[in-house]
Order: sequence, then C-alpha cells, then structure tokens
Amino acid sequence: MTEKKYEVIGYKGRCWLYSDKVKKHFLKPRNVFQSDQEENDWEKTADGIGEVGSPACGDVMRFYIKIKDDKITACRWKTFGCASALASTSVLSEMVVGKTLEEAKKIKPQDIVKELGGLPPRKVHCSVLGDQALRKAIEDYEGKQK
Ligand code: FES
Repeated sequence: MTEKKYEVIGYKGRCWLYSDKVKKHFLKPRNVFQSDQEENDWEKTADGIGEVGSPACGDVMRFYIKIKDDKITACRWKTFGCASALASTSVLSEMVVGKTLEEAKKIKPQDIVKELGGLPPRKVHCSVLGDQALRKAIEDYEGKQK
C-alpha cells in the first residue's frame, strides 16, 4: 500500500513531503507525558534518563526508560523540537518497548525514518535526536548498574 503524501510549503516556497505516518505521530504523539504529575513521577522513578541537544537547530530532547530483566518495559519523552523530531521520537518510543537493551542500541536513525515512511531529506537529522537521547538513557541506566 502506498501512503498518501502531504505537501508542505516550506522555506522560500520549496515543497517538502510528509508521509501519513509522520502526520499521525506529529498530531498524536505516543508515550508523551499526560500531566505534570506523571512527568514528576518519571523524573523520580525512571531507570535511565537521556538528554541531548541538536547543534544544527538548537532543539532539545529528553528520553526516559523503565527496564526490567534487561528489557525496556516503558518509555516517555519530551522535546522542544520540530514536527519531524516529534514524529521520529514518537515512532521510536513505540519501536523500543519490549526490546532488550542490546536490541534497542541497534536501532539507527535510518530505521526510524523507514518506520515513518520517509522524511524530507533536510529533516532526516531530526530523527537523530530521539536516537541519541535513547542511547544516553541506556548509558545512564548502565552507568547506575556499575
Ligand atoms: Fe531541529 Fe528538526 S529542526 S530537530
């Protein structure tokens, strides 16, 4: 099945194309905090937290994971970022739950872009933010185990 593409008029009238899945995740992001209380709880109870910023655009991402028996059982995230960063991290948050830490580490930005049905070339760097924040969260967890 081919996904319908959406045209977005970007900077200086250039056109970017977003897949249905990008639009779906941007409009209804998965695994985001539902309240300040939930966020406060995760700040205290997450097994790993990773935060990264993008030098390319100044955006910031924070990723939280809960782990049991070496598997990611749940995650949350928040970002000050663009639509592509939101959609990328939302789909990543669905991809990682149930994976072992080793499996999660193998997820690459290209896998995220593929899962989204593609991103406009100049927005591919936005998919790196969630990937890096997840890695930092895993490193945070592993550092605490030593
Ligand atoms: Fe900054 Fe997309 S433009 S993450």
